[in-house]
Formats: sequence, structure tokens, C-alpha cells
Amino acid sequence: MSEEALPFKEKYYPGLEEYLDFYEESVRDIEGFWDSMARGLEWYKTWDKVLDDSNPPFYRWFTGAETNINLNALDRWIGTPVFDKVAYYWEGEPGDRRTISYRELYREVNRLAWSLREEVGIKPGDTVTIYLPMIPELPTTMLAVTRLGGIHSVVFSGFSSRALADRIVDAKAKVLVTADGFYRRGRVVRLKDSADEAIALAREQGVEVEKVVVVKRAGVEVSWSEGRDVWYHDLLEKAPSRAYVRPEPRKATDVLFILYTSGTTGRPKGIMHSVGGYMTYVYNVFQWNWDPAPGDVYWCAADIGWITGHTYIVYGPLMNGVTSVMYEGAPDYPDPGRIWSIVDRYDVTTFYTSPTLLRLLRKYGDQWVEKHSLETLRLLGTVGEPINPEVWKWYYEKIGKRKAPIVDTWWQTETGAAMISPAPGISLVPLKPGSATLPLPGIVADVLDYTGDPAEPGKKGLIVIKKPWPGMLMGIWGDPERYVRTYWSTFSRPEEGIWIYYPADYAVRDEDGYFWLLGRADEVLNVAGHRLGTIELEDAILTHPAVSEAAVVGAPDPVKGQVPVAAVVLREGYEPSPELEEDIKRRVRELIGPIAVPARILFVKKLPKTRSGKIMRRILIALLEGRPIGDTSTLEDPTAVEEVKKAVEEFKRLAKK
Ligand code: WTA
Repeated sequence: MSEEALPFKEKYYPGLEEYLDFYEESVRDIEGFWDSMARGLEWYKTWDKVLDDSNPPFYRWFTGAETNINLNALDRWIGTPVFDKVAYYWEGEPGDRRTISYRELYREVNRLAWSLREEVGIKPGDTVTIYLPMIPELPTTMLAVTRLGGIHSVVFSGFSSRALADRIVDAKAKVLVTADGFYRRGRVVRLKDSADEAIALAREQGVEVEKVVVVKRAGVEVSWSEGRDVWYHDLLEKAPSRAYVRPEPRKATDVLFILYTSGTTGRPKGIMHSVGGYMTYVYNVFQWNWDPAPGDVYWCAADIGWITGHTYIVYGPLMNGVTSVMYEGAPDYPDPGRIWSIVDRYDVTTFYTSPTLLRLLRKYGDQWVEKHSLETLRLLGTVGEPINPEVWKWYYEKIGKRKAPIVDTWWQTETGAAMISPAPGISLVPLKPGSATLPLPGIVADVLDYTGDPAEPGKKGLIVIKKPWPGMLMGIWGDPERYVRTYWSTFSRPEEGIWIYYPADYAVRDEDGYFWLLGRADEVLNVAGHRLGTIELEDAILTHPAVSEAAVVGAPDPVKGQVPVAAVVLREGYEPSPELEEDIKRRVRELIGPIAVPARILFVKKLPKTRSGKIMRRILIALLEGRPIGDTSTLEDPTAVEEVKKAVEEFKRLAKK
């Protein structure tokens, strides 16, 4: 083990050997393993076959089986202590609060489903687009739609009307569920206005939204289309107070939901997840990740508009009878202590979020953390990006007080739930800051070099998944050819019957077999023939005490091919200066070598990011290469681009001299 490994073995959990025993057993007979894992769930009818692999890569799980995810998320809790347990502690940004038990959630889902069937006319197989903020009506609507056998397509409420329209059109959705507005940084975002615009844009593309269900959240005036628009609360009123809708039996191989994600082209991909496979995978992985205990209060501080929220705020916790926290607003509003005050208010035991949020909160300074006790936290998690060891250590020491293991979960929209991550619910392996550790049970992962051979330990390559797993995507909505091309064409050898899933992420496996995820494979730099990961450079820069955030990209260079350029956001109390620039460069030289030293540090106040918090390096690259910046519909704050643009122009002017 490397010196950095942190063994929790003595204190909390058994360790590596126990985990490996379980893992080896799981992959010896994958079908047998998932067969037994699926039996922990409720089905109307069990499967004839665990895995149908007769038409790869269109794998189908649990063929012949019938179920409905509501059976496991809600109905199974009737008559058990969970039914009267809190499902969600919800907090609005202005400070309003709601507590919703499993019983209350069950009742509202049934009433909503009743009205969606009787009043709105939703039938099994219909697609429903949901454009809602982080309010309890969002999980309620998702469950009501799947209860009826419909397919939901949730669109993040931060998306523009244009992005919403594209997704409505692609899914051919006839029904849209939205809200009048919601709170963000103390202001009301008028969501219904965007929804109306999107409906008009969709009409231009030939798709007519026939019904719009509107949740009253912000109490603002909205324009109304009689006959088309209906209030959510009026729909509930129409249903009998004890309405019961039988969860529609669905084939395990039917589509449970679509979720759009971006690919290498501008056109979003509708990732399809299956009824039976997704349900089985999420139910089990949730337990492995969070080792849920009856008294836990679990908070996944993400947005339900992304896969993390689907899996880890809605379906994962509900299928495990867990109490969750849900928060509507900005994480640093009204002050940078908001997140930690929520942790203390609800005695959160399990906290799961993104490195982006941690970097933001770390930047504000530790005084905001120190005001809060955080003593109930026993397990921490991260997702979405590689976590820089510096930030890992801050999380571990300042937030978890050195007693909460960090569950770094590597996965994608396409994989349904975590794939590479510690599994304290089984046995916690020693942790290494910055490594997502080992594959979860049933997952056969490897790192390959460019030729498709396994990369040597310590050598960078591309992560691949070599066996199907139940949480895998079924395909891309309406585009089977793109599914095969994007995920299965890089390393597969169909003539030999070998199919390999390609996630397009760089990774290294170390001597202990641990996986270190190094970012997307489309973000590599080639500096004078040396391959450099942007993440490696960013890690180095982030070790500098003045630096809060960093994005490194390659700028074209006539001699070296590319040179690294870093856009850097400073921590509070630091000012840009030539001395500081030199100091940061020195740091990179020390940690990686002269080859990696950025040609320039561009000091900015904000990095261009997506609304989900991912740094949009491709915008920086386009500016540096003098190309159009392309589609910016996912950009969180357009002013960030202007600032970067100015800095890039100045850099180019100086470079010419
Ligand atoms: C990245 C989010 C390193 C990765 C669940 C992947 C990570 C992409 C991690 C998927 C992690 C996610 N460490 N990188 N723990 N988790 N990623 O579809 O590049 O929004 O391919 O799913 O995020 O992003 P997506």
C-alpha cells in the first residue's frame, strides 16, 4: 500500500481482503450474482433469463420479468416502520421547510397519478417532460409518471428554453410539468415563462405540447393558456383523497426514463435506462455506497435534473427506505455557511456532493465551516469530477473531522449508478486521496492503452468496462447507431464476439489495482510530444495556497505543438500579480516538471462552467485557438466567457511580441 492509504479498518470497517473476497465471488458468475441481488426487490413476475446477450451491444436484463419501480420505492413500505418515517426534509432557499413522510409521499403520488391518468390522459409508454426546480413535487411527479408506466424526461430547471425545446422535440413529449417559478440567490426565477417559450419553439419544430401541469411554488403571476395549462394543486384536488393507482406492470426491458446528456457533438443524447436493470443496480449500489442504517439522515446535494439526483436523491434512497434532505437554492446563499447549517439542522450523517461545490466552499475560508458542529457526519462522498488531493484532504479534515471516510464515486449518466468507488456497505478498503479505489461488485473494469492492451500499472490509459452490468444504458433514444458508435466502437472486436464499453475517461491503475480517474479523454494536451492530463496540472496548481480553482487547456504553439495555459481563480484575500504568477508556475515545475509549466496564468474571477458545475474547457480552447466558442446553452454564467476572452486576447498580444 502506498503511504497515503488511509486504513479505517481498525476503527469502523473490515478491510481490503473482505472486500476482494466478495468482489471475486461476484465476477466469477455475473449472471448468478445479479440474479441473487435482484431477489432483494419486489417483482410482479421474475425473469426467464438474467441477461440476454444475444444481440450485443443491445444487452437486455431480466427478460421476461415484470415490475414497477414504485413497488420498491413506495408500496413495499406499507405496514412497515418506514411508512411513517421521513422520506424528505425539504428546505426552500428563503428558509421555508417541509417534512414529508413515506406515507404522505405515497398518498400524493397516488393522487397525482390518478389525475394524470384521468384528467391529463397519460397512458403507459407516454413520455412526459418534467421541468421542475428542487421542490418535493419533482420526485412526486417522477414517481407518478413511472407508476402509470410512463417515461419521464427530466430537464434541469437551470436550462434555457432553447435547451428545453430541443429535449421536448427529441422525446416527442405531449405533456410538460413545470412550476411558476423558484428561488435562486434571493430572486425568483420565472420558470413558466421559459416553459412557454420552449413550447412555442417546439411547435416550430412540429411538436405540440398538449397539456402543461404547473406547480405553484413562487406565487408569481404567470401567463395562462386555457384548456392547455392546469395547476398541479387543482389536479390533486380532483383525485379522491384515498386514490389508489395500481403500479402499472412493466417489462423489465421497457424504458424507465430518458435523461439527456451532452456528447462530443452539439446534439444532446437521450440516455435510456431500463425498468428492471436500473432498479436492481441502483438498489444495490446505494447500499454498498452508503451502508444505510435506520437512523441515518442522508443528503445528496445535487440537482435531480442530473443523473446523480435521479439515482441518489430519488430512486436509490426511496428503494432503501432512507430519510433524505432536499434543498432548493444556491449553496452559498444567504452566506457561505448555508450547506453546513443544513447539515447541523437535520443532523445529516451521510453527505454526498461534487468537488466543484467543495472547492467553492473551501474558497470562502474555514470560518464558515468552523461555526458549525458537523459532528453527526459519518460518511462523505464525491461525484462528477476527479477530486484533487488538496480538496480531498480539506474535506476529510475540516468537514469529516478525520472520522468520516470519503466515498469517491466514479460513474456516468450512462452507467446508472457508481461503478468505481469504495463500498463501506460491504467492506471499506483503505482510501487514497484522489482515487475512486476499486470496481464495485459485478463490474469488470480495466485500463487499456491505445492499442487495446491492458496498460501497465502506473501507466496512463483509458478505462473500459468489459462485462455488461444491470445499470447500463439501453441505448440512445431514437439513435441506436450513435449508441454503438459512441460507446462500443473504440475497443470492441465484434468478429471475435468481444464487446467493450468505452466511457472516454483517462485512468491509471496503480500497483495495488486502485483506479485513478484522470478526466475525459478529449481533454488531453500534447506538449512537445509529452501527453499531459489537464487534471494533473490543475492538481498541481491547486496545491498553491492562493488558488481556489484552476482550468488548464492547451494553446497552440509553433514549436511545442501545444503549451498549457491555466485560467485561475484566486482565494479570498489574494490579488493577481506577476510575482504570484511566477510562484504558481514554480509550483507546477516542482510538482510535475518543466514541461508542464503553463505558458501563462490567466487570472479570472470566474471560470466558464456548465450549470452542473463542470468547467467548460472547450470554451477556453476555442478562444485560444481563435475558433468560434460554439454551443453555450449549458453555460452557467455568460459573463465568465467575456472575462476569459479579454484575458486570452491579452495573452495572445503578449505572445506575439
Ligand atoms: C466524470 C456524473 C473522476 C467522468 C455521475 C465521467 C468523474 C463524467 C467522477 C460523467 C469521479 C464522474 N472521478 N471523474 N468520481 N465521477 N466523473 O454523465 O469524466 O454527468 O465520464 O455523470 O464525469 O459525467 P455525468
